[in-house]
Amino acid sequence: MIKQINEAVEYIQAIYATAPQVGIVLGSGLGSFTAEMKVEAAIDYADIPHFPVSTVKGHSGKLIFGELGGKKVVAMAGRFHYYEGYSPEEVVFPIRVMKFLGITTILISNAAGGMNAGFAVGDLMAINDHISFFAVNPLIGENSEKLGPRFPDMSEPYSKALIAKAKTIAAAANITLREGVYCGVTGPTFETRAEYKFLHIAGGDAVGMSTVQEVITAVHMGVTVFAMSVITDLGIREEENKITHEEVLQAAKEAEPKLTLIFKELIAGL
Ligand code: HPA
Repeated sequence: MIKQINEAVEYIQAIYATAPQVGIVLGSGLGSFTAEMKVEAAIDYADIPHFPVSTVKGHSGKLIFGELGGKKVVAMAGRFHYYEGYSPEEVVFPIRVMKFLGITTILISNAAGGMNAGFAVGDLMAINDHISFFAVNPLIGENSEKLGPRFPDMSEPYSKALIAKAKTIAAAANITLREGVYCGVTGPTFETRAEYKFLHIAGGDAVGMSTVQEVITAVHMGVTVFAMSVITDLGIREEENKITHEEVLQAAKEAEPKLTLIFKELIAGL
């Protein structure tokens, strides 16, 4: 594992030698965020040793290096999902590589189904905790102390300080920023009515098919995490409630400028 990470890091550093300070992971329909960056290098996942290759519509599959908010950043345009058939280790491999490249903070975005009755499509939600529903833990297996401890603490996986900063940024820009618990599921099916209801009763405000494994991996390695969901559909409506991937992408695209503003200012304030 460590050897594979180092090989990926060596390949990247031969192309782009500057250490990034912040990692960014962009969710479905949120890839054009990188237009905000002063791009200095873009490397196809397919060219990086041991990197899995992205298959989902709306995910472009590049590691993008550059500057944003006066900081050196690396953004994943496109991420890997467990439902695509990757192992949990493959899903989180890029997170480990970004840490070995030098990141100390990671900002993660995703599209998610809203379950909190106060949420509307297009809302942003700062994730303040998560519940993993069958999203297999990526740390199962032999632990390398070079990555982190065998039994990582998960009492504050999402930095309270960064959530507070994001709230201040959102308020100043007149953006409604919700806060809540993200339920991580495997997908690829959207939830049944009974499942949305169950996840809501269990304490979830939003549900999605990514993020949890990445956050566990980042926390394991001591990386500070901020994560935000774009609410792209509402799971607990009584009326007809069909959900399509196209709707999810569309809603994410519309909310993207708000997300971009918050991420940008958070990075500038680090
Ligand atoms: N459920 C799971 N994943 C999702 C959803 C949802 O409703 N919306 C966007 N990603």
